[in-house]
Amino acid sequence: MFDLTGKTALVTGATQGIGFEIARLLAEHGAKVFINGASSQQKCEVTCKKIPNSKPAWANLLIEEDIDKLYEQTKDVDILVLNASIQYKKEWNEFTNEEYDIQMNCNLKSSYLLIKKYVDGMKAKGWGRIVTIGSVNQYNQHSQLSLYGISKAAQKKMTENFAPLLAPYGITINNVAPGAVSTPRNAEALADPDFKKALESKIPCGFIGDPEDIAPSVLLLCSNEGRYITGAEIKIDGGMSL
Ligand SMILES: NC(=O)c1ccc[n+]([C@@H]2O[C@H](COP(=O)([O-])OP(=O)(O)OC[C@H]3O[C@@H](n4cnc5c(N)ncnc54)[C@H](OP(=O)(O)O)[C@@H]3O)[C@@H](O)[C@H]2O)c1
Repeated sequence: MFDLTGKTALVTGATQGIGFEIARLLAEHGAKVFINGASSQQKCEVTCKKIPNSKPAWANLLIEEDIDKLYEQTKDVDILVLNASIQYKKEWNEFTNEEYDIQMNCNLKSSYLLIKKYVDGMKAKGWGRIVTIGSVNQYNQHSQLSLYGISKAAQKKMTENFAPLLAPYGITINNVAPGAVSTPRNAEALADPDFKKALESKIPCGFIGDPEDIAPSVLLLCSNEGRYITGAEIKIDGGMSL
């Protein structure tokens, strides 16, 4: 079950957190995995040392030319996991134009550009798997995460729109929407016991998730066993979106 031997995967934002665990699990199941991150080639390389059968693919998804640079490093892949994102916390009317652009470009536009870039290779093989990583904020309203939530909701809509168009080519595309998950992104916030307690009180399951709670569903969606799932959303949030 879930044998990805012979498959190649690109996971964006795989140098830490949820993306790292997704990359690790796909590799554990036989895929050759490209580790993407923006900050440095060195961080990508250090990550690869922790994941056998992985290769670095350093590129900043905010820079359009880097999409081509990324493709040059990976060539066609069978599995594309669009996990990288940027989040700013501010009241809805306090974001700068630049902060608006950065969130939309990383969380939405780069997903569109990457799907366009990689889909032809998948079509040629008659097999492909695309997973977009969303967020509980694409459902819930959060006063300081409005633009982030909007970018994720639009990405979810894109996933649904493209699913019927790609299905005839053997390509599935699905969205996985995590709730609160303990990663480097929120380590500082979660270190505050009052913040943690307040957050946990909003989660019906009563606890913050780990990247290990998210990655297995992505593995399913990327496998042969997931071939009949497309245009779906899997909420993995301990009930937070309900
Ligand atoms: N953690 C949560 O509670 C939570 C909840 C809901 C949804 N999510 C979603 O889950 C995904 C992963 O979240 P996380 O908490 O694991 O994030 P994280 O700890 O902040 O890690 C973000 C990753 O994205 C990469 N990245 C950032 N900007 C990039 C860019 N411009 N180009 C390429 N890569 C870039 C980073 O790489 P470098 O550091 O190497 O640049 C890093 O590997 C995101 O889509 C997030 O929105 C997370």
